[in-house]
Amino acid sequence: MSQTVICPGSFDPVTLGHLDIITRASRMFGKVVVAVLVNSSKTPTFSTEERIELLREAAQGLDNIEIVSFEGLLAEYCKKCGIGTIVKGLRAVSDFEYEFQMAIANKKLNPELETIFLTADSDSTFLSSSMVREIGSMGGDISNFVPACVHDRIVRRLRK
Ligand code: COA
Repeated sequence: MSQTVICPGSFDPVTLGHLDIITRASRMFGKVVVAVLVNSSKTPTFSTEERIELLREAAQGLDNIEIVSFEGLLAEYCKKCGIGTIVKGLRAVSDFEYEFQMAIANKKLNPELETIFLTADSDSTFLSSSMVREIGSMGGDISNFVPACVHDRIVRRLRK
């Protein structure tokens, strides 16, 4: 399919779960824009530049990926860029209600916008960035949770 889709998120930091969704979306669609949220009301552990660099490294084998950052409403950003489809991962039933609300709100804001959900692979259903941050900062092993190529960098940063 030649369609361009967007995979938005905080990616603070990227996990194997995120990479699974991005990789599968890249096989299904012509181009995947991975959009890192710049949220001025929240202080992420990894700066926007770091989050983008980690994603770039993690996704380096995928040639139809573009990594960007955005501020403000996702629905507006999609409108501005002419993107009509959001792809998100669903890890568990507990994700569903929140994701369902966001999908509807985004459609109200931009009626052209569709949201597609991919089921997370079974190894990622428990995984989140805050879990990686907590385990990594306490010296635990995060090698099963983050892409191997960015593992050392994430560990160094979390132990600082
Ligand atoms: N694998 C592993 N972890 C995953 C995952 C996956 N497939 N999908 C989500 N997660 C985790 C993230 O790691 C994150 O974990 P954390 O809370 O422990 O840090 C958590 O799920 C939430 O993901 P996150 O990317 O932070 O946020 P989100 O999915 O809730 O939404 C945006 C992010 C950018 C899409 C959303 O905030 C947004 O659109 N913001 C812009 C403002 C806007 O338009 N608001 C109105 C929305 S209706």
